[in-house]
Amino acid sequence: MRDMQVEPQAFDRVLSSMCTDPHPAARDAAERFLATNPGDPGTYPNVAALEDNAVALLSEIAGLEEPAGYITSGGTEANIQAIRIARERAASRTPNVVMPESGHFSFQKAADLLGVELRIVPTDDRHRADLEAVRASVDDDTAAVVGVAGTTEYGRVDPIPELGEIAQSVDAALHVDASWGGFVLPFTDYEWHFDHAAVDTMAIDPHKMGQAAVPAGGLLVRSPDLLDELAVDTPYLESTSQATLTGTRSGAGVASAVAAMEELWPGGYRRQYVRSQNNAEWLADALEKRGYDVADPTLPLVAADVPRSTFDALRAKGWRISRTATGELRVVCMPHVTREMLASFIGDLDRLEVRASVPVVSDD
Ligand SMILES: Cc1ncc(COP(=O)(O)O)c(C=O)c1O
Repeated sequence: MRDMQVEPQAFDRVLSSMCTDPHPAARDAAERFLATNPGDPGTYPNVAALEDNAVALLSEIAGLEEPAGYITSGGTEANIQAIRIARERAASRTPNVVMPESGHFSFQKAADLLGVELRIVPTDDRHRADLEAVRASVDDDTAAVVGVAGTTEYGRVDPIPELGEIAQSVDAALHVDASWGGFVLPFTDYEWHFDHAAVDTMAIDPHKMGQAAVPAGGLLVRSPDLLDELAVDTPYLESTSQATLTGTRSGAGVASAVAAMEELWPGGYRRQYVRSQNNAEWLADALEKRGYDVADPTLPLVAADVPRSTFDALRAKGWRISRTATGELRVVCMPHVTREMLASFIGDLDRLEVRASVPVVSDD
């Protein structure tokens, strides 16, 4: 098969992804800016100016008064760079980072690359960072405390203000990973952003709930001087320094992030949040009625204790579903996930269960 004949997958059975079908305006902007490189602003000034818009819009969403940050390749880069800032700022020569076990695996990469110790602490019975455990783990060598605002497996929001207080007590930075949650949390009562707590850095990704095209992550910092910790000189470019991890990077991501946010913030995102949250609650209810243990969907993400054999059978039927570390079925109610899709999913589940409960008739 020649490459040109390969089509991307359709979204009609995708329940496991934290990315989604980009908004049409975001798709269009991505195409128009495909051949631009915001890594070289002296040569590509238009996309560089667009990036300022992107950071301004992201900052508004995240309660950051003075916009500062950049569009990353994704949550992984934003998390690595945030830990890098914290390490550079820390006085310790043997820095550590304290993170709940619900933290994303990108922090493992950050710890490996940056030579910091990652101290993973337990979550409580609601899958949120256990504050006592965090308190017991920080010390004078702690460079950063990580809080997650919308966890990958259960969609939970850590107690961010309290984590900020703990971080301040040992002069550490507070990094909030709102990579997935950042575009739904503005419509909830959670305290998660720069204006709610002593947040120093944040990951917030347009290419997840923000409906931008991949790659469009976001790193925000409380004050622009934090970016100086990342900056290196760029002798052969007309600009003087670069704070990003990648060099050449996608102008498509930057442009599509701006297009999506201009189109959807705040009304479109609010409507999407309500739709997604209703879908998650509908699915949780449907699964509970069928006798499965379901974790309360506090954000649009459902985790349920479905047997492995059922999970495998649903995958064999083409459903793109995934499991948590402890084996629960995990469904992310992204914008492309409709009620009809979920009803069809439950229909397949019911047919499997009926088959499983039919007694095997033997001849003897
Ligand atoms: C909470 C959280 N942080 C970070 C990431 C990593 O983001 P990316 O895959 O865009 O690098 C993810 C990915 O799903 C995530 O859920």
